[in-house]
Amino acid sequence: MQVISVMMLCAVAVQALWPIPTTYEAGNQTLWIDQSVKITYKGAQQSTYGYGATNNNSTWTNKIVTNAIERTYDTLFNKNFYPWKFHPRNTNFEPALTSSSTFVKSITLVQNATDPSDIMKPSAGGVNEAYTLTMTSDGVVTITAASSIGLLHGLTSFTQLFFQCSSGGGVYSPFAPVSISDSPKFVWRGLNVDTSRTYKPLSDLFAMVDALSYNKMNRLHWHVTDSQAWPLEIPSMPELTDKGAYISTQKYSPSDVQSLQEYGALLGVEVVVEIDNPGHTASIAFSHPELIAAFEVLPNWDTYAAEPPSGTLKLNSTAVYNFLEKLFDDLLPRLKPLSSYFHLGGDEVNMMAYLLDDTVKSNLSTVLQPLMQKYMDRNMAQVESYGLTPLVWEEMLLDWNLTLPSNTIVQTWLSDASVAETVGKGYKALAGNYEFWYLDCGKGQWLDFYQTDAAGFWPFQDYCAPFHNWRLMYSYDPLSGVPANATHLVLGGEAHIWSEQTDSVNLDQMVWPRTCAAAEVLWSGAKDASGQNRSQVTASPRLAEMRERLVARGIKAEPVRMPFCSMNGTQCAL
Ligand SMILES: *[C@@H]1O[C@H](CO)[C@@H](O)[C@H](O)[C@H]1NC(C)=O
Ligand SMILES: *[C@@H]1O[C@H](CO)[C@@H](O)[C@H](O)[C@H]1NC(C)=O
Ligand SMILES: *[C@@H]1O[C@H](CO)[C@@H](O)[C@H](O)[C@H]1NC(C)=O
Ligand SMILES: *[C@@H]1O[C@H](CO)[C@@H](O)[C@H](O)[C@H]1NC(C)=O
Ligand SMILES: *[C@@H]1O[C@H](CO)[C@@H](O)[C@H](O)[C@H]1NC(C)=O
Ligand SMILES: *[C@@H]1O[C@H](CO)[C@@H](O)[C@H](O)[C@H]1NC(C)=O
Ligand SMILES: *[C@@H]1O[C@H](CO)[C@@H](O)[C@H](O)[C@H]1NC(C)=O
Ligand SMILES: *[C@@H]1O[C@H](CO)[C@@H](O)[C@H](O)[C@H]1NC(C)=O
Ligand SMILES: *[C@@H]1O[C@H](CO)[C@@H](O)[C@H](O)[C@H]1NC(C)=O
Ligand SMILES: *[C@@H]1O[C@H](CO)[C@@H](O)[C@H](O)[C@H]1NC(C)=O
Repeated sequence: MQVISVMMLCAVAVQALWPIPTTYEAGNQTLWIDQSVKITYKGAQQSTYGYGATNNNSTWTNKIVTNAIERTYDTLFNKNFYPWKFHPRNTNFEPALTSSSTFVKSITLVQNATDPSDIMKPSAGGVNEAYTLTMTSDGVVTITAASSIGLLHGLTSFTQLFFQCSSGGGVYSPFAPVSISDSPKFVWRGLNVDTSRTYKPLSDLFAMVDALSYNKMNRLHWHVTDSQAWPLEIPSMPELTDKGAYISTQKYSPSDVQSLQEYGALLGVEVVVEIDNPGHTASIAFSHPELIAAFEVLPNWDTYAAEPPSGTLKLNSTAVYNFLEKLFDDLLPRLKPLSSYFHLGGDEVNMMAYLLDDTVKSNLSTVLQPLMQKYMDRNMAQVESYGLTPLVWEEMLLDWNLTLPSNTIVQTWLSDASVAETVGKGYKALAGNYEFWYLDCGKGQWLDFYQTDAAGFWPFQDYCAPFHNWRLMYSYDPLSGVPANATHLVLGGEAHIWSEQTDSVNLDQMVWPRTCAAAEVLWSGAKDASGQNRSQVTASPRLAEMRERLVARGIKAEPVRMPFCSMNGTQCAL
């Protein structure tokens, strides 16, 4: 049962935590914290750390825990915020620091079990992410978890209990005593970032990992290539980026990929790389024109692809098979040390393109379906040979009727019915209905319309308009329409930032804080403890506060609402 009994010095409903824990009890006493506080880790060994501790690299467990400790100090003392927006104007809400003030005395991290050996690349559900946190009124803090990742989540919650004084005069929590017991509803909680339509520097991807971890999300799905550009360096095939990247400065080297994986592993965020195919591959034609059918058909590209440039890997070609084998033999062994998954794409394959494919010359599904089965069987066998678990988009299962290995994770996007249909066939599913969790929607068209047609497209909305605001994202239930006996097959879901109109300049704002809404649905569930839809009225002050936290931690998240709405209760509710 969920117990939320928060009482405070001020009459404002500041509740601090996002996503909301399974159970959360807080009091109204003030505790201060300063840089002299030590954090003791009791795992296989016992070590004590202080402010300025740096990442201990002896084992992955040590790396994850010490990185979390290092970040806890940095967050509390260097990246905190002054919460004036959550108190009525002209009130003195800050506690007074006096000689009798109570400080946090000790922070103890207890790991009561051994990490699984694949803690740096856990399989979904393979790591226990639960934690408990207690903070007594006299300043004794204990976080207990079975895994290093659980301790990381506990420390993340801990930092959310503290605020910065206006004058820089200290860091305090108004919530003691605190008791939290918490674990995730779904094991796969992800964000899909597209780096083909527009490139994102590595630092942007690191920032996404930071923000995902602050929200207890655990997957960065990296849609790294697509038809518009191929930014991923493949050492055995340098021509792919030499010819297919937009410009030589917009490439990801093998060490970039590895450093993003490592950065994620330390923060409990596994990087899952997708090479979308056989559709969405026109950028391969810049270096290997012989492999691509229907490349750059103009002006009616839309007959052959969802977006320009048209072009798809040929479906019945030994040369394509050899290309894929060489590509994956280069990439997969490099991903494998820090990833348990590989995404084989498979969305929006255009049948008309195969009319122009000299190895097929047909658009009949009866001709194409067996060829697609053979094509995907080859891909699957190679992914399996590296011990990776495959993902595909829903079309491979639901439109192409392919028989897939039973461990395949099917990523749905088209509807709630897709989730139900996927699990109905016995496959594991990811949710992420585009009408709720596509972050690119509602920006308007990026296509230009000739004068003769423009009027017919006015006011130039995109296919998935309107903009999916956080309330809409928050109203999405990944289990909607899924029979009770199959909910265990829904691993979780992802929000998606397709990037036709999102680059480094607006990435943070396009993703945050809206993805926090998905994070709470995935961690806490779409329904509250009494089975009701979660309330916007209680979520919005917490989300507004989470936004301030993200900004303080370097993420340019958009405002949730004007300060007026958060300053005094629920005056903006209707
Ligand atoms: C603080 O909490 C205690 C115990 O719940 C309660 O009796 C007291 O009235 C509260 N104080 C304030 C200032 O809200
Ligand atoms: C790293 O962790 C190990 C195991 O907990 C410990 O023995 C060692 O002293 C630590 N080193 C540093 C520099 O913290
Ligand atoms: C650990 O870090 C130290 C100091 O930066 C470095 O010398 C050592 O090579 C690292 N060891 C591993 C296994 O990464
Ligand atoms: C806060 O809102 C209440 C109404 O909900 C109002 O009575 C009160 O005056 C407001 N206080 C401030 C300081 O704005
Ligand atoms: C370890 O702690 C976690 C979090 O409190 C708890 O869920 C789990 O049951 C504990 N495991 C053991 C073996 O005590
Ligand atoms: C596929 O390619 C093989 C070998 O070139 C050919 O014999 C076969 O007819 C092709 N299949 C289709 C459906 O075109
Ligand atoms: C196949 O191509 C023909 C000729 O262009 C077209 O009439 C038909 O609609 C196409 N069928 C499919 C399934 O795309
Ligand atoms: C998949 O099965 C459905 C329903 O039987 C059918 O309409 C569709 O054409 C099939 N798809 C392919 C690619 O064969
Ligand atoms: C709860 O949310 C679902 C969407 O997940 C919606 O269909 C339903 O109408 C909502 N129920 C209420 C009572 O608002
Ligand atoms: C759920 O129950 C239905 C109806 O009894 C059954 O057809 C289906 O196979 C069950 N699904 C699972 C995943 O057990």
